[in-house]
Amino acid sequence: MSIESSSPVKFYSGEDVPLEMHKVRIVQKLNLVPIERRLDALYEGGFNTFGLKTTDVYLDMLTDSGTNAMSDNQLAAMMKADDAYAGSQSFMRLQKAVEDVLGKQYYLPVHQGRAAENVLAHAYVRKGSLIPMNYHFTTALAHITERGGQIAELLYPEAYVLKSSHPFKGNMNIELLEEYINKTGKENIPYIRMEASTNLIGGQPFSIQNLRNVRAIADKYGIRLVLDASLLGENAFLVKQREEEFKNSSLGDIIKTMTGLADLVYFSARKLSSSRGGGICTNNESIYKELEALIPLYEGFLTYGGISIREIEAMAVGLYETLDETVISQSPSFIAYLVNEAEKKGVPMVTPPGVLGAHVNAMEFCSHLPQTLYPAGSLAAAFFLISGVRGMERGSVSNQRDEYGNETYADMELLRLAVPRRVFTLSQVKYVVDRLAWLYENRELIGGLKFIYEPPVLRFFMGKLAPVSDWPEKLLAKFRKDFGDSL
Ligand code: F0G
Repeated sequence: MSIESSSPVKFYSGEDVPLEMHKVRIVQKLNLVPIERRLDALYEGGFNTFGLKTTDVYLDMLTDSGTNAMSDNQLAAMMKADDAYAGSQSFMRLQKAVEDVLGKQYYLPVHQGRAAENVLAHAYVRKGSLIPMNYHFTTALAHITERGGQIAELLYPEAYVLKSSHPFKGNMNIELLEEYINKTGKENIPYIRMEASTNLIGGQPFSIQNLRNVRAIADKYGIRLVLDASLLGENAFLVKQREEEFKNSSLGDIIKTMTGLADLVYFSARKLSSSRGGGICTNNESIYKELEALIPLYEGFLTYGGISIREIEAMAVGLYETLDETVISQSPSFIAYLVNEAEKKGVPMVTPPGVLGAHVNAMEFCSHLPQTLYPAGSLAAAFFLISGVRGMERGSVSNQRDEYGNETYADMELLRLAVPRRVFTLSQVKYVVDRLAWLYENRELIGGLKFIYEPPVLRFFMGKLAPVSDWPEKLLAKFRKDFGDSL
C-alpha cells in the first residue's frame, strides 16, 4: 500500500513534496532557546511536556487540539457573532452547519469533547455498564470508569503491529464484538463506541465497510452506536485514499455516510473544525431528549453550551471547511512526509502514517528501557531536550491505574509529534526529521523516568517525573560535542 504524501501536484524532479495550498497571512515569532535552558525547563516542568511553557518551546507538536491554524473566513465570521444567552443567530448558523455537514438534525453544544463524554457517561453509564469500543481515548475512559463502567477494546491483532501496511488498523473486530455481546449480555451495554482515526494507536482510521458491520451488530442486538467524530475529517480523507468504493466520492458524502451509520455522534471541535467547542448530535429525538437536560446543568444554556459565541461562528465555518480536501489533506500529507523521511533514516515510526501526528515507536527506539521506566515519556523528554520540539507521551504514563491501584502498562509506547493543520512549514518538518535521526543514533544515552508526583486522575496532565540518573546531562554534553554552539 502506498504511503506517499499523496500531493495532487507532481514535481518534475520526481520528489514527493506535500505542496501547501494556502498562504500565510499572520505569523507568530518562535523561540529556539539554547539546550542548557531547555534542560532547566524540563526540570521545572517535571520531565512532563505538559509542564513546559511555550516560551521554551520551538515547535509545539503537543497536540492539534485547539492549535490548528484558523482560516481568514473563520476569523471574519467571529466578528459577526451575535452575543445572546438564548436564541443566538450564531447558534442557528452552527446548527445548520451541523445538519449540512454531519447530517444530524438535533445538536447539543458542549464546551469541548470530554464534556460530551461526561454527558454521555451521566446519561448512560452505571456501575457494571460495559462499553465495547475499537480503542479507548484517555478522557472517554476516565468518564466511563468514573461512573463505575468498564470498557473492552476490540481491535484486530494487526492494529497492534506498529510497522505495518494495513490501511485500516482502527477497525473494530466484528467477531470479537459479537462474542463479547453474547458473553456479557446486551442489557449491560448502553452503547458501542467507535472512534474515528483511533487516536492512541497512532491516528489510524477505520473503513466504512467496518462501520457498516458494526452497525449491523448494533441493530441485531438493539444497542446504540456512538461515533467519536473528533478526527472524522481525516478518517474520511483516508477512506477516500484507501477504500476502493469511495475513491471517487466527495469528503462530504464520505462524512455523511459515516455519521449516518451512528445513532449519536459527538466531537471535539478543537480538532474537527479547527475552533474551540464541541457537540453531540443525533437524528433520534428520544436520544436528544435523554441528553438535553444535562446541557444546562453542566455546560450552559442550549444555544451556547459553554462555548463563546465567537467560537460558535468559527466552528460553523470550520465545519464547512472539513469538506475541503486542501484543508483536510494538509496535516496527513505532512505527517506522511515526516514518517517516510524518518523511516529512511532508520527511525522506528508507526506505519502506515496516520492522522493528527507522526508517531515514534518508543519501545523500539528505547529498546534498552523497560516499560517500568516509561520509554515514551523518556523519549518525549529527550527529544524536547535536543530539539526544542514538544511532543506528547502516549504510552504508560498516559495509562491509568487499575481499580486496585496497580500500574497498567500501555499496549504501545509512542511519542506523538502532532502536526496541526496548516501550522508548520516543510523546513520545520525537515528539522524534526534531522533531530530525530540524531537522537536515534544516540539513543543509548536516553535513560528512564520515575514519578515524583502522581495525581489520581488523568495523571499524565499534571504528573511530575524525574530522571533516574544523570542521563539528561550526558545527552546535553553529546549534543554540544556534535553540534558545537548550534541552537
Ligand atoms: N476524543 C478524541 C478522539 C480525542 O482525540 C480527544 C482529544 C477527545 C475526544 C477529547 O476532546 O480535548 O476537546 O476535550 N484529544 C486531544 C489530543 C486532547 O491531544 O489528542 P477535548
